[in-house]
Amino acid sequence: MTASGTFGYGTEYCHLFDIERLGAIVCKGTTLEPRDGNPQPRIAETACGVLNAIGLQNIGFKALLKEKAPVWAGWRVPVIVNIAGETITQYAELADMLDGVAGISALEVNISCPNVTAGGAEFGAEPGPAARVTGAVREATSLPVLVKLTPNTADIVKVAKAVAGVGADALTLVNTLKGMAIDIRQRRPMLGNVTGGLSGPAVKPVALAMVYEVAGAVKIPVIGCGGITTASDALEFIMAGASAVQVGTAGFANPQAPLEVIEGIEEFMRQEGVADITELIGVGRR
Ligand SMILES: Cc1cc2nc3c(=O)[nH]c(=O)nc-3n(C[C@H](O)[C@H](O)[C@H](O)COP(=O)(O)O)c2cc1C
Repeated sequence: MTASGTFGYGTEYCHLFDIERLGAIVCKGTTLEPRDGNPQPRIAETACGVLNAIGLQNIGFKALLKEKAPVWAGWRVPVIVNIAGETITQYAELADMLDGVAGISALEVNISCPNVTAGGAEFGAEPGPAARVTGAVREATSLPVLVKLTPNTADIVKVAKAVAGVGADALTLVNTLKGMAIDIRQRRPMLGNVTGGLSGPAVKPVALAMVYEVAGAVKIPVIGCGGITTASDALEFIMAGASAVQVGTAGFANPQAPLEVIEGIEEFMRQEGVADITELIGVGRR
């Protein structure tokens, strides 16, 4: 799959390669109202990674329903809509209104958003708020519900168990890690928002350890995400227990990266005599 926020709505890429060969496309985080996002600069390069503070710039769910879903409905590749909100009610409203729409195959709930009614901590930082968002979305939709966990928490296994316990169908691990950079000549933060989210190869070992721990603690499928650039990265996540993977930042330097990951996995399976990818899930666990 492509990771949310790194592949637009898929429509931007369909002329670059055959996107229908992907497992699924996860679209940009979508909110009830359109959002302009954070002040520039919003991207800063770091060693082996990228800091971003886009601030959920998006077209809003009404434009998504009008302009994007009808296009998706004609594609064979499933599209998963990533949703975000500032209150539990906003998540539930979004889930309700996206239910039963042709072209939308599942929801991915981004719980890395500040809970505005509870002082601004991320919903996903604690098991309680994470489960309340998940439960509200679960009740509002008949679509499969993927919950995307944040690594910015003291105990991701506790959050994962809480979310799985209220009806999540799968978990995506992980969103970006909080980070920052300072321009020493200008003597100010590189990002307009001061802090941002770190992604790319720098986060891979952290994401991999979280997938390993969570996959050993829940019964629902785990989707690995974080720094996956090559097939061998993806295979590490699968061997750690992930049932699927998402490719994000790698696509900025090479838009074909998600396809190359698929082809590389197929090549590995041929070399190793593996008939079915499910044979590899969790084989690296001890
Ligand atoms: C520019 C950018 C925008 C992103 N936007 C979203 C978003 O809207 N919703 C979300 O859940 N994750 C978002 N993410 C996080 C990615 O989906 C992914 O979880 C993270 O970047 C780690 O994977 P990667 O190292 O392969 O990029 C964004 C990441 C980047 C770099």
